[in-house]
Amino acid sequence: MDLRLQAPQLAVYEGTKVAPPAAAGRQARRTEPLPSGDVQNALGAVQSLLVLGGSSDIGAAIAERLVPDGCRSVVLAGRRPEAMEPVAARLRAAGAAVITTPWDAVDIGGHADAVKAAWEAAATDIDCVVLASGVLGDQPQLEDDPAAAAELAVTNYAGPVSTLLHVARHLEEQGHGTIVVLSSVAAERARRSNFVYGSSKAGLDAFAQGLADSLVAAGVRVVVVRPGFVRSSMTEGRDPAPMATTPAAVAEAVAGAMASGRETVWVPGTLRYLMPVLRHLPRPVWRRVSANM
Ligand SMILES: NC(=O)c1ccc[n+]([C@@H]2O[C@H](COP(=O)([O-])OP(=O)(O)OC[C@H]3O[C@@H](n4cnc5c(N)ncnc54)[C@H](OP(=O)(O)O)[C@@H]3O)[C@@H](O)[C@H]2O)c1
Repeated sequence: MDLRLQAPQLAVYEGTKVAPPAAAGRQARRTEPLPSGDVQNALGAVQSLLVLGGSSDIGAAIAERLVPDGCRSVVLAGRRPEAMEPVAARLRAAGAAVITTPWDAVDIGGHADAVKAAWEAAATDIDCVVLASGVLGDQPQLEDDPAAAAELAVTNYAGPVSTLLHVARHLEEQGHGTIVVLSSVAAERARRSNFVYGSSKAGLDAFAQGLADSLVAAGVRVVVVRPGFVRSSMTEGRDPAPMATTPAAVAEAVAGAMASGRETVWVPGTLRYLMPVLRHLPRPVWRRVSANM
């Protein structure tokens, strides 16, 4: 697949007037602007939010956590407008103005336009961008299908790298903002059972840390979030791991980090102490310990 040859998607889908991507054309259009002046308020609360992966359970939970705290405008960006619409409806019911806009992590050639369209949809500064997209994949199937494994790596790593670099330019221009990156405990140490996913998250996690360092002087923060097993669409049908948590708990931890200025978030918090120990186990020991993880 030549990722650069794919057409950029510029159409903005809004409310119930959702057009399918093919019919929506390439021009950005918006019937109503989101409320203007939605920048982080004097208390530091998020007032305008962009969620990349707008149908994600965790992304939705973060938006639903921030809206009652004063987040007035939300842009949901994703590849399936119909999957984002229920999230948009809940956020509107909670009092936010919501617009959905197309963004596909694997459409690298379209990222500049997709990010620009998200900013145009917001019609204001965006003071928090949550990268909530990702696919877990089925490890045995991925081992049998190297092209699918590579596509997962593009979805979880290369696509976010491209997108977040575009996002970073917009936030630098604003001179403020926070990027929240959904990494994973799987990024800490590769496991036999999901090393394609884990390695993509390890790349994303390292990228996010470096991006954070590169943006400090511009007044832009990057928060790296490392949840363990979260009960969501991604893990549906899988046996919960020990310390399994929920999208709402991840959202609460993210809100806490936004308020406190923390840059690394583990969910649940005890993983902060457990994972460094597991990370430094000798490899033969780790192989045995992680055999059933
Ligand atoms: N659930 C867990 O146990 C867990 C643990 C640690 C970290 N995380 C991370 O947390 C994030 C959110 O996960 P979740 O639990 O909320 O899972 P989820 O509900 O399955 O959400 C995944 C999201 O990724 C989107 N997506 C997939 N491929 C995409 C693409 N090519 N372009 C744009 N969007 C794409 C999906 O959109 P569609 O609607 O189009 O499919 C969906 O919105 C992910 O990065 C995940 O890796 C999850």
